[in-house]
Amino acid sequence: MKKQQLKETIEQIFANGKGILAMDESTPTCDKRFAAVGIPLTVEMRQKYRELIVTTPGLNESIGGAILSNETIREQTKEGVPMANVLMKAGIIPGIKVDMGAKPLAGFPNEKITEGLDGLRERLSEYKTMGARFAKWRAVITIGDNIPTTACIKANAYALARYAALCQEAGIVPIVEPEVLMTGNHSMQGCYDVTEQVLKTLFFHLYQYRIDLEGIILKPNMVIGGTESGVGNSIDEVAEATVNCLLASVPAAVPAIAFLSGGQSPQEASEHLNAINKNFKAHLPWIVAFSFARAIQQPCLDAWKGKDSNLEVAQKLLYNRAKLSAAARRGEYKPEMEG
Ligand code: G3H
Repeated sequence: MKKQQLKETIEQIFANGKGILAMDESTPTCDKRFAAVGIPLTVEMRQKYRELIVTTPGLNESIGGAILSNETIREQTKEGVPMANVLMKAGIIPGIKVDMGAKPLAGFPNEKITEGLDGLRERLSEYKTMGARFAKWRAVITIGDNIPTTACIKANAYALARYAALCQEAGIVPIVEPEVLMTGNHSMQGCYDVTEQVLKTLFFHLYQYRIDLEGIILKPNMVIGGTESGVGNSIDEVAEATVNCLLASVPAAVPAIAFLSGGQSPQEASEHLNAINKNFKAHLPWIVAFSFARAIQQPCLDAWKGKDSNLEVAQKLLYNRAKLSAAARRGEYKPEMEG
């Protein structure tokens, strides 16, 4: 019964070439993004921005699921309609970020462990009453001098597995997100090696904790050289390395992979996703889609600037970025479409 429920949720999210919009920024992350474009850091502005997103006309043409934060799932539009209900009415399934953030891992300088397992069973059951049908938990792995350690990778894999088990018990699809950060001076091969180790460790833990792999969505990073490496890899190289890494580590039973954008520009994220689908779709056992935050939202946020007079143009930019991401999911994106 639960198995069927999880399967249907995943099918609905990715139906007709759609993907996921991540709009679950924590307040500190939202503040950082607002500050960068001069938007006041207030709860009112966060509410307005989220209302702008969920009421964007035609968003449902490309977006099948939207990840909300604890704040947003409790928020309403100015007409008093819960944001989650606006999404559901448009046929977009609401999801919820349930982790409590990545905190320093004691004893392991510069490494992080994601917290939030305490009370998670109860929180999931409340979120379900608010309409959430899938959830997200993000683990953060940093590449640097002598890191990541095996201890950090294992601790995060354990937490992801415990979270996934609680979600599936509740009939909620877990998005399992082990993000290997792009920051650093590592090569693309360095990213490949760490991502492979992280994914293999993760799937070992998911197996140990009896997770139904057919009822999860994997949200990984793409395999890309570090932002300070000074070496650029071509679109096709990134696509090939990413596909090889996933084929080596992700069981075919997983129905869908939805990438994070991780700080790539919107165009880069679209180009990479497109090359993965265009060049390799026939060889991949999974749906390969997107669960972007910045790569969909950034142009919209830059244009909005917190002003009502910019609302329409900001919504058009959001619609457009979502459309381009969906085109990339189908392997039909072309840079000329950017205009
Ligand atoms: O957890 C991370 C977000 O859901 C994805 O954000 O696409 O900006 O990396 P991003």
